[in-house]
Amino acid sequence: MRPANILICENESAASREAADRFACAAVRSVAEQGRFCVAVSGGSTPKGMYESLAEEHLATVPWYRTELFFVDERCVPPDSLDSNYRMVHDLLLATVPIPETGIHRFEGELSPETAAGRYEQNIHAVMGRDPRFDLIVLGMGDDTHTASLFPYSPALNETGRLAVSNYVQKLATDRLTLTIPLINRAHSVIILVLGESKAQALADAMSGTEDIEMHPVQAVRPTHGRLLWIVDRAAAAKL
Ligand code: 6PG
Repeated sequence: MRPANILICENESAASREAADRFACAAVRSVAEQGRFCVAVSGGSTPKGMYESLAEEHLATVPWYRTELFFVDERCVPPDSLDSNYRMVHDLLLATVPIPETGIHRFEGELSPETAAGRYEQNIHAVMGRDPRFDLIVLGMGDDTHTASLFPYSPALNETGRLAVSNYVQKLATDRLTLTIPLINRAHSVIILVLGESKAQALADAMSGTEDIEMHPVQAVRPTHGRLLWIVDRAAAAKL
């Protein structure tokens, strides 16, 4: 089954450029309408091409000075660790584009997971107020259908109140820091970017008729009053 809100691009670079173009459009529209752009972005390898495209092609189109950039998840490591999502996004994007330091909001992965999650939640409220709503969230998906750090059968899948939590991931035997489903689903717009043939089975599973959020966490992403768009390449779409 293919839902209507899926855009299948020829290859990885076309999909990455498409995601970057949509990021730029959302930024321009949000700044025109409300004077700023609040976005949350992913780690992992999938969005690297999007960050490169943003840094190379959208230096002048995105109103970076008016951008508040958050992360959908983080590993419990310091910001200079090779495993840090912040570090990856910094190196590919933030080092080039003129987002003010005050507009970059990273999880403090060097703190205890509970403390880091609590402080991130406070940070989100401080920037977006009592009922935070991101203008755009860009998610990826793992080959087990996790998204952000919402892994299959992990405790955070049952979170109903918090905005950001630490989430113990049994299969990795580690804590992760992640935005929660209620916060993600309040966004005005969500893009899920899925690339490569290694994701083909997961994408087919996620889009199969049977809904099981514990088994396929990405199925929980259903913006209540916003738009959801999957951007995938042909290789990832091969089993749809
Ligand atoms: C992370 C993520 C995570 C990611 C998937 C896919 O920090 O790892 O934000 O949800 O999107 O694990 O990872 P890849 O893009 O590396 O396949």
